[in-house]
Amino acid sequence: MAPLDERTEIAEVETSGSIATEKKPISTILIIIAMQTEALPLVAKFQLSEDQDSVFPKGVPWVRYHGIYKDLKINIIWPGKDQSLGVDCVGTISASLVTYASIQALKPDLIINAGTAGGFKAKGACIGDVFLASRVAFHDRRIPIPVFDQYGIGARKTFPIPNIFKELKLKEGKLSTGDSLDMSPHDEAAIAANDATVKDMEGAAVAYVADLLSVPAIFVKAVSDIVDGDKPTAEEFLRNLVAVTAALDQAVTQVVDFINGKFLSEL
Ligand code: ADE
Repeated sequence: MAPLDERTEIAEVETSGSIATEKKPISTILIIIAMQTEALPLVAKFQLSEDQDSVFPKGVPWVRYHGIYKDLKINIIWPGKDQSLGVDCVGTISASLVTYASIQALKPDLIINAGTAGGFKAKGACIGDVFLASRVAFHDRRIPIPVFDQYGIGARKTFPIPNIFKELKLKEGKLSTGDSLDMSPHDEAAIAANDATVKDMEGAAVAYVADLLSVPAIFVKAVSDIVDGDKPTAEEFLRNLVAVTAALDQAVTQVVDFINGKFLSEL
């Protein structure tokens, strides 16, 4: 543990940081969404336009939609399509990169990572449920060496949003992240150890970068498939993607409407 005077200094830095963020209500938000199907209805809902003069390095497929909605500057970031394969750039690598680049370029007050997720019926998840994650962790970074094991799991609490929970009556659950849509026996054990109700491919990566750069982040995940059910995951996911996206978009809109005009401490 750090000596007492160093710990006091850290506490002071954190305190002054949070006071600084409270001088004005939330103004700029970054919504990170991995799939175009999930992003486009929200782009339409908030009447955003695609960035013509990209804030990102030349040649990357990352797309920013932006505009003003109520009192908020909204940016939806979609990592785009893989340049050779033409599919959405899902997963932790693209999510980390766009989160880092977007924070650097746009200096958001708050990040919302929104998307579909697999849900565990044993933990109370049903198709179409929308969860706000109270904690995030990885389930496919196994490093069986003391302390590295914890680094691999990368568990962290998300930004506290008690008033959003009270007001919006969305479900609360822990989120586990990995780079596969399916679930290996190793993943299954790690997800159980993470006590997760929902499983995605981006959340903990977005949380890692947001933490690194001290930006609060919240996670809105809509259940598109039941991982511990009897249907093949990929089929169930593709069949439900469009319908569940409607529930996701409704929840994100409710969250954004709640955020509008508020301070971080009021969430
Ligand atoms: N996104 C939607 N369903 C998922 C699943 N089962 N695993 C990971 N990410 C998902």
